[in-house]
Amino acid sequence: MPEIGDDERKQFFEDGFLIIRNAVSSELVARARALIEEAIPRDERHLLVPGNLATHVDVTGLFNRSTLADTMKRLMGPFPPIISSQVAVTPPFNQSGGKPGIHVDGGWSGVIPESAEEIDTTTCRPKDAAKYFGENDEKRGTNDGLLWMNPERTLSYGSYTALVGVALNDQHEPGNGQLGVLKGTHKDVENCFKAQRDAGGIVGPEGPGWPRIGIGKSGKPYTNGLPDDIRKIAEQRAEDGEPTENWPWPELTPVLLGAGDAVIALHSCPHTPTPNFGPNPRMNIYFRIRRLREGNSNEGTRRVAHGVSDHPDRGYFGQFLEYPDDYDPWSTSIDKLCDHWSEWDGMQSLTRS
Ligand SMILES: [Fe+2]
Repeated sequence: MPEIGDDERKQFFEDGFLIIRNAVSSELVARARALIEEAIPRDERHLLVPGNLATHVDVTGLFNRSTLADTMKRLMGPFPPIISSQVAVTPPFNQSGGKPGIHVDGGWSGVIPESAEEIDTTTCRPKDAAKYFGENDEKRGTNDGLLWMNPERTLSYGSYTALVGVALNDQHEPGNGQLGVLKGTHKDVENCFKAQRDAGGIVGPEGPGWPRIGIGKSGKPYTNGLPDDIRKIAEQRAEDGEPTENWPWPELTPVLLGAGDAVIALHSCPHTPTPNFGPNPRMNIYFRIRRLREGNSNEGTRRVAHGVSDHPDRGYFGQFLEYPDDYDPWSTSIDKLCDHWSEWDGMQSLTRS
């Protein structure tokens, strides 16, 4: 079993992500890979992976039966059973699809107006919000997904503790659809959440410094998965960096993995899939893990779909769950967003120094 040494912990603390080599045995990788290869139609341009694969025991087994479950227990702490995953396959020779869209997980991303004229520049919402968000947007928008976590609309972002990705194919050469990360900016993201909380208003989009819908340089609206300050950092890095033919996004660090390697990233680590210029499908399986929250009576319920959900304070399909009077899931999540290392038992010696 790979031990996570002090140097690696330090690196994780600084970078916001950590690569673990050979975290998953070649036998478990082969089993999951065979399932996926069998399921995707080879002759089609778009590789659609059937949804039921996400909960298949040979897919969730990449986490549950490998060294990863134990590594996460030691690094982070206890967590509810992992029952689902995200099967993320990027087709080969894919020049346009999967264009980098750096984000922090947990936001709403639905259909938005095509033109900037339809966006209210004060609220950064569509002028005809009900058309896009639905009548009761605290519940569920017409476009699917959650605009708000709580009925009071004080928290507009879902969160968890760690994104754990397992590679099923070789991704050592940049340009093969790697996960790209905005290295080291997890601290800045935490600071953005803190500033929003301290301002006393909304935490997440529609809160200070984070328009719900941004307007791109071309004048086209986009759903905004990053606070303004983080987008500025990304833009500066893009300007200062050296693009290469295979990796034309110098602001991003490619996570270079071999089959069976894993990456652990903080929820607050901004990331994106990247186009796959290579000849093979890029196959990654992602698990979203949230440290067990004592006092939360819904830990372990299947309705949350632990392992895949980026909004585990609600049911996976947006249902409101019942909570005991003395447990407030929204304020707990805000506390964790503003102090992300507090959920990492095995990182305390670094965070307190
Ligand atoms: Fe993501």
